[in-house]
Amino acid sequence: QPLKFVSLLGSLRAGSFNAVVARNLDQLAPAGVEVSALGSVGDIPHYDADLQAQGLPESVVGMGKAVAAADGVIIVTPEYNYSVPGALKNALDWLSRLPDTPVAAKPVAILTASPGAIGGARAQYHLRQILVFLDGRVLNKPEVMIGQASSRVDPETGSITDADTRSLITAQLSALAEMAGGQG
Ligand code: FNR
Repeated sequence: QPLKFVSLLGSLRAGSFNAVVARNLDQLAPAGVEVSALGSVGDIPHYDADLQAQGLPESVVGMGKAVAAADGVIIVTPEYNYSVPGALKNALDWLSRLPDTPVAAKPVAILTASPGAIGGARAQYHLRQILVFLDGRVLNKPEVMIGQASSRVDPETGSITDADTRSLITAQLSALAEMAGGQG
């Protein structure tokens, strides 16, 4: 029985570096681990308690079910203004309001990519803070912060061109698998 991880992407743009990273996860995962993508955070309406009271949006219900059924969650996101993109925060806010709290006790890995030097490090620590209340079990190490993304990730070909980055991602997914109780 393979471990099943789901990925949540914080960027909406077609040429996204982070989207390339997210799409390569399944291939970079160790044996016995499958990674599939959750729906787009762009399909989720802005959080509104009144909307929630009328019945949860389909996009939120679907994402919650997929997270609940997964052995772990992998968040791949850019850093916006030293923090988490609003669309990703919005998705996490909805997930935090679901009655079955699908993220609770779930292993979570974080990856960020940025053309800048520090690879989205500040967004990672904001994300960790957000995940405290959702009670996710965030993997500490290895940290994956892909700086100078334009020299390591190629949106034209959809590949991660830097071998060290690929190995680091595999190492992180192995650590997440170990945390989730599999072989890794
Ligand atoms: C950015 N960018 C950025 N980069 C960074 O390293 N730290 C930051 O705080 C920010 N802030 C920021 C704010 C906003 C509103 C935008 C649009 C961009 C640059 C960002 O890393 C770059 O656009 C990436 O290419 C975005 O990731 P994707 O879409 O390529 O995955």
